Amino acid sequence: MTEPGTVLITGPTRNLGRHAVLAMADRRDGQRPDLLLVGRAGRDLTAVADEARARGARVCEVGCDLSRLADVRAAAVAVRDLLAAGTVGPLRALIANAGVISTDTRLASSDGYELTFAVNYLAHAQLVGDLLGSFTAPARVVLLGSNTYHANFWRRLLGVAEAKWADPVELARPAAGGQAPGMTVSGVAYSNAKLAILYYAHELQRRVGAGINVSVFEPGWMPGTALGRGAPAAFRVMSRALGRVPGVSTPQRSGPLLAAMALDDKWARLRGGAFVVKSKLTEVQPVAHDRDRERRLWEATAELLERAGASR
Ligand SMILES: NC(=O)c1ccc[n+]([C@@H]2O[C@H](COP(=O)([O-])OP(=O)(O)OC[C@H]3O[C@@H](n4cnc5c(N)ncnc54)[C@H](OP(=O)(O)O)[C@@H]3O)[C@@H](O)[C@H]2O)c1
Repeated sequence: MTEPGTVLITGPTRNLGRHAVLAMADRRDGQRPDLLLVGRAGRDLTAVADEARARGARVCEVGCDLSRLADVRAAAVAVRDLLAAGTVGPLRALIANAGVISTDTRLASSDGYELTFAVNYLAHAQLVGDLLGSFTAPARVVLLGSNTYHANFWRRLLGVAEAKWADPVELARPAAGGQAPGMTVSGVAYSNAKLAILYYAHELQRRVGAGINVSVFEPGWMPGTALGRGAPAAFRVMSRALGRVPGVSTPQRSGPLLAAMALDDKWARLRGGAFVVKSKLTEVQPVAHDRDRERRLWEATAELLERAGASR
C-alpha cells in the first residue's frame, strides 16, 4: 500500500463527510492519513477535528465557506503553506464532498452564482485547480456525484428531478422573479450540478498528468441528512419514512466507503471519472459522456472563476 500521506476533504462537519473522516482516522498506524478538513469555521469543524485527533490522526482545520470563491482561493493558499511547512504529509487525495441543495434557485453565492451550482461544482473546480500542482503522485481526486443526474425510480418517487442541461453560464445564473421557483426547479439545479461534476471529472482526467486519478463516488440515497434541510416538512417526513426501508444507505455505512475511495488499493487504478455507487463500479448513462459539453464546461468554468476573481 502507498504511504497514505494527507487526505483533504470538504464538508467534513456532518453526515457523509464526518463519517468518512472518522473512518480515515480509525485506520491503523501506518495506514492512517493526515487530514485537512476544509469547512465553515466554527464549533462543528472543531468538533470533528477533535474527534479525529482523539482517534490518533494528525488534523488541520482549514476554515472556508465554499459559497465564497475568495475563501476557496485562500483555503488553497493555506493548504499549500501547510504542505510546504511539512505540517502534514504529502497530499495524496482530495475528496470534494461538500454539497447543498438550495431550495430557492434565486439565491446567489457571494460571487453572484446560483448557490447549488456554486457550492457543489464551482467551488470544487476552483479548489482542485488551485491544488493541482500540490499533489504527490500517485494521487486521487474523488468527486461526489449523484444518480439524480438521470431519472430513476426512487428519485421520481421523491419528486427529485433529473438534470436538464444548459450552457454552464446559464446554469450559474440565479433564477429571476419575485417568487421562489419551487422544489422541482431546485432538484433540477442539484441534478445539473451533479451532471456537471461527471462532465468535469472526465475532462479533468484528460487534462491532468498521469499521476492523478479522478473518480466520482455516489454514496447511495441517505435520507435525513442536512442536504434536504430547506425542503418542505412533508418531503422530510417522507424521506424519513423511506429511510427505514432495508438497504437504504446511511452516512455511517457510506462514509467508510468514501474513505476507501481515497485510500484503498482496491480503487488505486480507478481513473477517467469512473463512477462508483457505494462499492460498485457502475457505467454511467450515455448522457453523462459528452465531449462537446465537457469541453464547453471546462472553458465556461474558467470564465466564471476568472470573472469572480476579477470582481474582487
Ligand atoms: N444525502 C444523499 O442522499 C446523497 C446522495 C448522493 C450524493 N450525495 C452527496 O454527498 C455529499 C454529502 O452529502 P450529505 O448528505 O452528507 O450532506 P449534508 O448532511 O448536507 O452535509 C453537507 C456538508 O457540506 C458542507 N457545506 C454545505 N455548504 C457549504 C458551504 N457553503 N461552505 C462549506 N461547506 C459547506 C456542510 O457544512 P455545514 O455543516 O457548515 O453546513 C456539510 O459538512 C454531497 O456532495 C451530496 O450531494 C448525497
